[in-house]
Amino acid sequence: MNETFQSASQGEAPILELEGVQKSFGAVRALRDGTLSVRPGSIHALIGENGAGKSTLVKIVAGVHRRDGGDLRFRGESVDFASTAESKAAGIAVIYQEPTLFPDLSVTENIFMGRQPLLSGRRIDRGAMHAEATSLFRRLGVDLDPRRLARGLSIADQQIIEIAKAISLDAALLIMDEPTAALSGVEVERLFQVARSLRDEGRGLVFISHRFDEVFALCDTVTVMRDGAYVATQALADTTVDALVAQMVGREVGELFPKTPAPVGDVVLSVEGLTSAGVFHDVSFEVRAGEIVGLAGLVGAGRSEIARAVFGVDSYDSGTVRLDGREVRRGDPRGAVRAGMALVPEDRRKQGLVVEGSVARNIASVIRRGLSTAGVLTGSAEDRASSPWAAKLQVKTNALDMPAATMSGGNQQKVVIAKWLATEPKLLIIDEPTRGIDVGTKSEVHRLLSDLAGQGMAIVMISSELPEVLGMADRVLVVCEGRISAELDRADATPEKVMLAATRRNDQEVHA
Ligand SMILES: Nc1ncnc2c1ncn2[C@@H]1O[C@H](COP(=O)(O)OP(=O)(O)OP(=O)(O)O)[C@@H](O)[C@H]1O
Ligand SMILES: [Mg+2]
Repeated sequence: MNETFQSASQGEAPILELEGVQKSFGAVRALRDGTLSVRPGSIHALIGENGAGKSTLVKIVAGVHRRDGGDLRFRGESVDFASTAESKAAGIAVIYQEPTLFPDLSVTENIFMGRQPLLSGRRIDRGAMHAEATSLFRRLGVDLDPRRLARGLSIADQQIIEIAKAISLDAALLIMDEPTAALSGVEVERLFQVARSLRDEGRGLVFISHRFDEVFALCDTVTVMRDGAYVATQALADTTVDALVAQMVGREVGELFPKTPAPVGDVVLSVEGLTSAGVFHDVSFEVRAGEIVGLAGLVGAGRSEIARAVFGVDSYDSGTVRLDGREVRRGDPRGAVRAGMALVPEDRRKQGLVVEGSVARNIASVIRRGLSTAGVLTGSAEDRASSPWAAKLQVKTNALDMPAATMSGGNQQKVVIAKWLATEPKLLIIDEPTRGIDVGTKSEVHRLLSDLAGQGMAIVMISSELPEVLGMADRVLVVCEGRISAELDRADATPEKVMLAATRRNDQEVHA
């Protein structure tokens, strides 16, 4: 057993130290002063706005990128990892938001990839591997079948498998880059329990998140970054959300949720009896011009599925969708766009972005038909159409012709939102509008939605953040197990009422 794990006192030497680490990509200075010191037996939060350099710092530690300058020490020794394999072998594990398991291998095979125990005669000892995997899961307090294929596992389970792999490799440092973005409340709690037990074993953990409630619930220490540089490190017990926001942003942040009342116009969207067997049932609602209707509920309640059906990316069994009184054909997203609908999907990286394309091309992609003269779209027309929207969303890029793949996670999210707003839809459906978006831009996104409603747009907003729903929505529809379990006016919508309706079982259904 490694000595580092024996005791975890506060005074112990740091396991990971970065000082003045630098990294540029061409003209982009992603990291000017990467400075971080993580003690064993500690969960260290790393926070900062979108594009602050957090993921770049992590990738240097992980051996994905090589630094241009500065010091990097692991367990007291200066290191320079040329590959992820080197970083792993040294005892560093990184869990990304989207794990990369092999779908056609079993859970066990994914854990022991490339280092299967052999029986004499060089046969792989599967029994021993499954037993080892089972004992790892038991230690982590999770219930997973090691023999099943990785295909179809939830993101939460895939992350647990990555963590099990890290432990089996005896990683002394575990870095989690926005691991909770795609998890439900219960899954977040399970991940936190696992993280705490690893901390108690004396490992060092780094946790990246845009959610302050998570940072305060899990971590003991926090380092703030801004514009690629270190700002401050402090104990979380000695600081507040406001103080951290001030350090992150370096300026005043606008009020979150600035929804201003707007005159309500005619019905824009009318959904009647929408049903998709086993997914959602008899869903009916209307949205008027100038209105923001919030869809609240637990993750998995069926909100995104309803949105996808209304927009036509998924089909449904029965019911009708009307826009401005005219029926929208089932399963025809192009028709929906022509009729004036836009859907900003939840998983923007997978569903919303052409990562090889430039920022301008991404933003202009849906309005291309309108922009092109004689079918040819010039680069400058793309720039002209996209730059006002990029500016409104504070997309931080030096040039609109930069490939979207090289942007930070949060900035990619903003590009997808900008792309759909550029179509100037009558109805905007936006799924988790501020997920992965930093606190400074969050209020900008809220202001933008409020302005758009003020100009007469009808908006459906799905959000798992209760304060966001309550702050932004004129009306809240609560979805529970595929049904609308309550409809609450802004004035009536309290956290208690929404939570109650979100967890209500079918047989207790009521329409408020
Ligand atoms: N491979 C790359 N090529 C060019 N620029 C890059 C590359 N990777 C990152 N960058 C730039 O480096 C800066 C820092 O990005 P990084 O991903 O580290 O931010 P982040 O703090 O993780 O942000 P977020 O909270 O949005 O995930 C950004 O301006 C980004 O566009
Ligand atoms: Mg990042």
